[in-house]
Amino acid sequence: MAKIIDGKAISKQIRSEIAAETAEFIKNTGRTPGLAVIIVGTDPASQVYVRNKRKACEEVGFYSEGYELPESTTQAELEALVDKLNADEKINGILVQLPLPKHLDETAILLRINPQKDVDAFHPYNVGKIMIGNYKFLPCTPAGVMSLLERSGIEISGKECVVVGRSNIVGKPQAMLLLQANGTVTICHSRTKDLAEVCRRADILIAAIGKADFFGAEYIKPGAVVIDVGMNRRADGKLTGDVNFEEVEPIASYITPVPGGVGPMTITTLMKNTLISAKESVNA
Ligand code: GUN
Repeated sequence: MAKIIDGKAISKQIRSEIAAETAEFIKNTGRTPGLAVIIVGTDPASQVYVRNKRKACEEVGFYSEGYELPESTTQAELEALVDKLNADEKINGILVQLPLPKHLDETAILLRINPQKDVDAFHPYNVGKIMIGNYKFLPCTPAGVMSLLERSGIEISGKECVVVGRSNIVGKPQAMLLLQANGTVTICHSRTKDLAEVCRRADILIAAIGKADFFGAEYIKPGAVVIDVGMNRRADGKLTGDVNFEEVEPIASYITPVPGGVGPMTITTLMKNTLISAKESVNA
């Protein structure tokens, strides 16, 4: 029987710490950390994320602005909004919800965001800083995973860590953070041979491939820590992760549920980054 890592509870605790720090910051500087969230189009999943991001701002005492732009928004219009927010002193963090509609150039938009306000850490400048281990903004989901491990008392140093998935948002930065914590890191992907065998080496397995209930018992070493970054919807409408929870939970030592595991931590890191940016803006 695995211990369940309660991401909701851990997230709540960290957010209350951020709220206390924010109150102190406002008292000392007279400034309120501000986050702008931009969404283009009407993707329902993105709309839920964006609503949750703004709710989290309220919870920790931030100022927030939401921009819900129509699907027909042009590159020039979106870039003009980013430019305006780059210049706005009330705004410390700018988040453009991905994916953007196909007609927009995502890379160009991410490059347009001032790296000092890039609280997603998606700008190549910040990605490079993560790579060399000297960074200000934490990549949101991977840093959330690191906090879950840390607050659950799970040692990473010297452990076999297997990350399945190589996206820019999760897999690659996750591997970097585990490496910086002295894990022995393997990155797997769709072309990996004998995936189950590689996964069975893992003391810590990070599942981030976006396939519902994919990782069954045959992927898990007894006693492994299993972190499920997946967020998929089953045919019956139920939310589920990349891990087959019923099969894996009896074998693992720790496991994150979906929902209520990694999910809440992503937004918590975003709040951390916005506060970091606000503090830096005062020192600038
Ligand atoms: N889409 C899925 N995850 C994320 C995220 O962490 N940030 C942004 N901006 N878009 C996303």
